[in-house]
Amino acid sequence: MQVKELSVGKLRVKNNIFLAPMAGYTDYSIRKLQIEQGIGLTFTELVSAKGLIYGGEGSKQLLFSGDNYNQTAVQIFGSDPYFMRLACESEDLRHFEIVDINMGCPVPKVFKNGEGSALLTDIKKAEEIVSECVKSGKTITVKIRTGQKQGDDIATEFAKMAEHAGASLITIHGRVRDAYYSGEPDFNAIERAKKAVNIPVIANGGIFTEQDANIMINNTGADGVMLARGAISDPFLVNKLLKTSSQKTLKTYILAHVELMKEQYGDEKASREFRKFTPYYFKGAVGVKQLKAKLVQAQSTKEILDLINQNL
Ligand SMILES: Cc1cc2nc3c(=O)[nH]c(=O)nc-3n(C[C@H](O)[C@H](O)[C@H](O)COP(=O)(O)O)c2cc1C
Repeated sequence: MQVKELSVGKLRVKNNIFLAPMAGYTDYSIRKLQIEQGIGLTFTELVSAKGLIYGGEGSKQLLFSGDNYNQTAVQIFGSDPYFMRLACESEDLRHFEIVDINMGCPVPKVFKNGEGSALLTDIKKAEEIVSECVKSGKTITVKIRTGQKQGDDIATEFAKMAEHAGASLITIHGRVRDAYYSGEPDFNAIERAKKAVNIPVIANGGIFTEQDANIMINNTGADGVMLARGAISDPFLVNKLLKTSSQKTLKTYILAHVELMKEQYGDEKASREFRKFTPYYFKGAVGVKQLKAKLVQAQSTKEILDLINQNL
């Protein structure tokens, strides 16, 4: 794929390879590490607009971005245009220039409230949300899926709506809600949407290798790609796309990840949080069954660091 700078509203983003929002994964530590690997823009995981307004500490913790606010967008979700705008204007979001609106989350808890992917069948409400958020003066971006059920294709309509309502970029996850995270992305839906608007269109879904990224760009003409699970299981996927060499090896990357989590969460929570990354880091690796078992049982970050130091 061709690497290029992108204009997002009045911002210049240094390249067109983004890191997706992923609840429970793309916290401060992973965003920082991926920025160091060269990624252009990262996103916080979805944060509830109402949670922010009503002062939920849990929501606020998700925002922390250290020195990286200039390469981090915050993603918010909600269904009430008024609260969404309030969230954009809130003190908590003062460090973020870009606010992304989640219109793709399939999780029942979110969907049942008319939020996330539920908005994909209510374009009028979706438009009101974007228009209100734009009034906050933030650079607004939108992340959608291609619909709710197999056969749906709302991407073009939504891309036009988002552009018309003042959004500066749209990311299209090329799957419908019912597909959750499996199946080939709908390249045609992304391609049609890309042709219909002038704002940048970022393509997402199923990018695990350099070849996947090339296929995505060749088939859709999108302006860039958003890496999700692929960037967790291969921290150097971004280097492969950028054609840069990494300063870190898998060993030093994992060690840095554990240290950063320890700084942010403290020892106990960091060792618990690390567990879910183990299957990603060792996906496809042979002879690591015992190591994986020990890592998920580790009670402290010291234990994890020792295991990594001794075995990688
Ligand atoms: C565990 C997990 C958490 C996710 N959390 C979010 C989220 O907070 N906001 C969002 O817009 N998408 C979220 N997504 C969707 C991803 O951003 C991405 O669209 C999806 O994983 C498809 O890309 P992939 O096939 O390359 O993984 C999540 C996906 C996963 C697997």
